[in-house]
Amino acid sequence: MCTVTCIASINIAVIKYWGKRDEMLILPVNDSISATLDTEHLHAKTTVMTSPTFKEDRIWLNGKEEEIKNPRLQNCLTQIRKRARNSNQWKVHICSENNFPTAAGLASSAAGYACLVVALAKLYQIEDDITSITRSGSGSACRSVMGGFVKWCMGSESNGADSIAKQIVPASHWPEMRILILVVNDAKKKISSSIGMKRTIETSDLMQHRLKHVLPNRVKIIEQAIIEKNFKTFAEHTIKDSNQMHAVCLDAYPPIVYMNDVSHTIINLIHAYNEAVNEVKVAYTFDAGPNATLYLLEESVPEFVGVLDHFFPPGINSEQYRKGLTFREVINSQELFNKINATRQAPGTLKYIIYTKVGNGPKYLQDPNDHLLNKEGLPI
Ligand code: DP6
Repeated sequence: MCTVTCIASINIAVIKYWGKRDEMLILPVNDSISATLDTEHLHAKTTVMTSPTFKEDRIWLNGKEEEIKNPRLQNCLTQIRKRARNSNQWKVHICSENNFPTAAGLASSAAGYACLVVALAKLYQIEDDITSITRSGSGSACRSVMGGFVKWCMGSESNGADSIAKQIVPASHWPEMRILILVVNDAKKKISSSIGMKRTIETSDLMQHRLKHVLPNRVKIIEQAIIEKNFKTFAEHTIKDSNQMHAVCLDAYPPIVYMNDVSHTIINLIHAYNEAVNEVKVAYTFDAGPNATLYLLEESVPEFVGVLDHFFPPGINSEQYRKGLTFREVINSQELFNKINATRQAPGTLKYIIYTKVGNGPKYLQDPNDHLLNKEGLPI
């Protein structure tokens, strides 16, 4: 019997992966760049276990047994077993859970697949690159296999061998970088990113412009901005890339809309704030949903959260409202609020906010008390 437990975090792209050139292998049409968040606040935790007594492969997700035949899961398992250095042919049990609500619409599959593959790689003693295996579970997951700022190179080979993720810099390179996730109250069922990407590639003319004329340069610029810790350039291109991803979605036919009115109010507030302080202090980015992720430097957090609380007053449950890291509170002047050209929203417009930072990537948990499976291989 052999058991491995690991945690891995979500990543938030600043250059979006949007569009596949091969849907089966999950090969993207562009390079993308993200930061992997600290495992402390938003992680998936996975235990994998093999034993000669197991009759079949099984998986439990957030407390419920799921279908192991899921093609993306099978892609990962098959490739892991092909690459295994040991000849372990025993069946595997997998148990995984998130420490954040899946319903919040955060990129839970990225953390989940990264965690699964990192755990399986240890179990099967795979030592070379595993990002291409992770990619075949969910594209963006390959960027969560390592910490810091990460680039997923699209590659050019048809079998995807060179479509792998690489670290640009570790988290320690830009330790001042902080992330605020604004979870928007939203009940709408959204179009999955896979369907959204496919429709965009097939029907958007603007997408061709993005791929040919915008991204090649933008990827280089933002990579350099990260290396040089140039926040202004980093922030401007992060904002523009998010807006362009949502523009090509709107250019799809029928159009795809992920952001809602609250998302647009957040965008307005951030531009109004940056203008009022006469500096680009906060960048926003949106994935396939209405929640905003903000990148900002640690020194900007107290003032900005004060501004956010003013324009988006927390709802009744304010003790539940702020999650993650703590920070020194400041009282902003009325003069600053007056300078910001934005409208105050109703209390509770945001469900909650999570304050976190860039992290070091997946972590193995050595303590047997951390395992999610008992000795019989069943969820604890
Ligand atoms: C908007 O990785 O969820 O978050 O490869 O089909 O599983 P699949 O898609 P997924 O797409 C994420 C898209 C995005 C942008 C990004 O993270 O780069």
